[in-house]
Amino acid sequence: MLSDNAHIEGLFPEASQNWDLDRLYADLQAVSGKEIKPFEKACLRGLLCRYRPGQLAFKLSWTSGALRVELNKGLYRSLEAIAGQPTNTLRWEKVPEWLEAKSYKVQRQTLHDLKSNFLTQANISANSADWGEAPNIQAFYGRTEELNKLEQWIVGDRCHLLAVCGMGGIGKTALMVKLVENIYTQFDYFIWRSLRSAQPTAQLLSDLLQFLDGSAQTGCSISDVIELLRQKRCLVVLDDFEATLQDGELVGAYRQGCEGYAEFLQRVGAERHQSSLILISREQPKEISMNQGEDQLIRYYKVNGLQRQGAVELLRARGFTGSENGLEALVQQYRGNPSALRIVAGTIQELFNGNVSEFLKQTALALGDVLRTLLYQQFERLSKLEKDILYWLAIKHRPVSLATLRSQISLQSSGSELIDALESLRWRSLIEKVTEQGEVMFLLEPVVLKYVNRKFVEEVSKEIVAIATQQNLKSIDLLQSHIIVEDLAPDSIRAMQIRLVLKPIKDKLAKAIDQNNLELESLREKLASGQPLSLPEGTNYTEANLALIGLWW
Ligand SMILES: Nc1ncnc2c1ncn2[C@@H]1O[C@H](COP(=O)(O)OP(=O)(O)O)[C@@H](O)[C@H]1O
Ligand SMILES: [Mg+2]
Repeated sequence: MLSDNAHIEGLFPEASQNWDLDRLYADLQAVSGKEIKPFEKACLRGLLCRYRPGQLAFKLSWTSGALRVELNKGLYRSLEAIAGQPTNTLRWEKVPEWLEAKSYKVQRQTLHDLKSNFLTQANISANSADWGEAPNIQAFYGRTEELNKLEQWIVGDRCHLLAVCGMGGIGKTALMVKLVENIYTQFDYFIWRSLRSAQPTAQLLSDLLQFLDGSAQTGCSISDVIELLRQKRCLVVLDDFEATLQDGELVGAYRQGCEGYAEFLQRVGAERHQSSLILISREQPKEISMNQGEDQLIRYYKVNGLQRQGAVELLRARGFTGSENGLEALVQQYRGNPSALRIVAGTIQELFNGNVSEFLKQTALALGDVLRTLLYQQFERLSKLEKDILYWLAIKHRPVSLATLRSQISLQSSGSELIDALESLRWRSLIEKVTEQGEVMFLLEPVVLKYVNRKFVEEVSKEIVAIATQQNLKSIDLLQSHIIVEDLAPDSIRAMQIRLVLKPIKDKLAKAIDQNNLELESLREKLASGQPLSLPEGTNYTEANLALIGLWW
């Protein structure tokens, strides 16, 4: 019985994030004149988190019928009373609305309010917490276990350095805001800074020093800051850390002026002090990757999409009931990516009248503008080799082994460069690694796949149109290094390559021919006679591609 109660009391803890449960329990008790039972409290929490009674029964291991009878006898009547509603009118889905109208919802309007609530009970004082550019996260679903784990790492294990990484839009910043809200009062000082504008190390150090020590200094050193981290227990969060890293390089090289971050991270990780530094980044700095481990004071946490439950809650908050056909498939397809789910939820509501299966049938992956912008930023930062690999993985449309990448693909680089680039792409969270029948394979995240595919079509179309308009092959690049449709691919994949790559390219060419009155015959002849061809040695897909497009025979 004891463990039963403990189980029941542990259900739906997330309700306490948004609701003043203590007051609610006390008021319910006052109107009913009886103690409210643990299962009633659990059901109330569940209803506030928008679980249906059937799901509550399942969680409690009761039958739905029995639960309904019990709730009708007690909790439902008391809820009507405190909500000022007539008896026997309660509909379970109305409960959050009713209680919100009676101000039981915690008002977390601004972080300032939050801060002042906390300040009264904790040792942190008003001028020792600085939220900087941290966003105010109103709606946050799921991730309870992750929050617990990270809290253990920072508060329990007193990690010195934690890097939280994952692709743009996956929810890193939101997750860290929630973590910090839970733990910052346990530190003497807390400061949040975004490095979005790639502040030079010196500038950040003097900013930190001024905040921690009150002394405005220029020319302060890393040692000065570490000394303060030693004297006081500080929590420092640096968001958007990837901005300090160079574009177009493999992961890990710093921008000019930001080189000092390498030493700063290395020393915060290695030296004795009582503080914690959290980095939030799309890319993993190598000072972390080389030294991190679960038994170390330097840790790495990869943020993935939301688990099923959190994802469904997010969709529920955007107008779904949670029981639509296809909802599971939708969550799967977007890997629980909160930005992507928010975007498609809107699309489905607006264009498909909320019909998820219809949406899934009619579209591959609809990418909203937000995600596209995120991916664009991420893609533009990549080195040429990294981009080439992504294009190949997009064309292949299936997991690809290192051996295949090496042999089939004409990448003008050594094996070790290839491995570095693959690692770098993994750190940037753009590719996934899976093991199939004992072999390591690489593939693109579905949302990334869609983006890269579109980008490939765009770039190749540009090349083709340039060839047609200039009547020469000077602008050739991807057409030479990547095949558009693979001869030896399985039929289903070939069909996909034809539909998603070849067809749109041919369409764009046809349009350009129309608009510019282009004459293709002479180009074909020129190409066939080999006149404008002066191509480098090595694997070259130009002829095959031009044949596919219809410019060569
Ligand atoms: N657990 C979550 N529940 C609901 N919305 C979320 C959650 N995590 C992230 N979001 C939302 O998704 C978007 C992207 O999240 P963000 O934390 O900014 O991603 P990142 O920092 O990884 O780029 C934001 O609008 C954020 O509020
Ligand atoms: Mg962020």
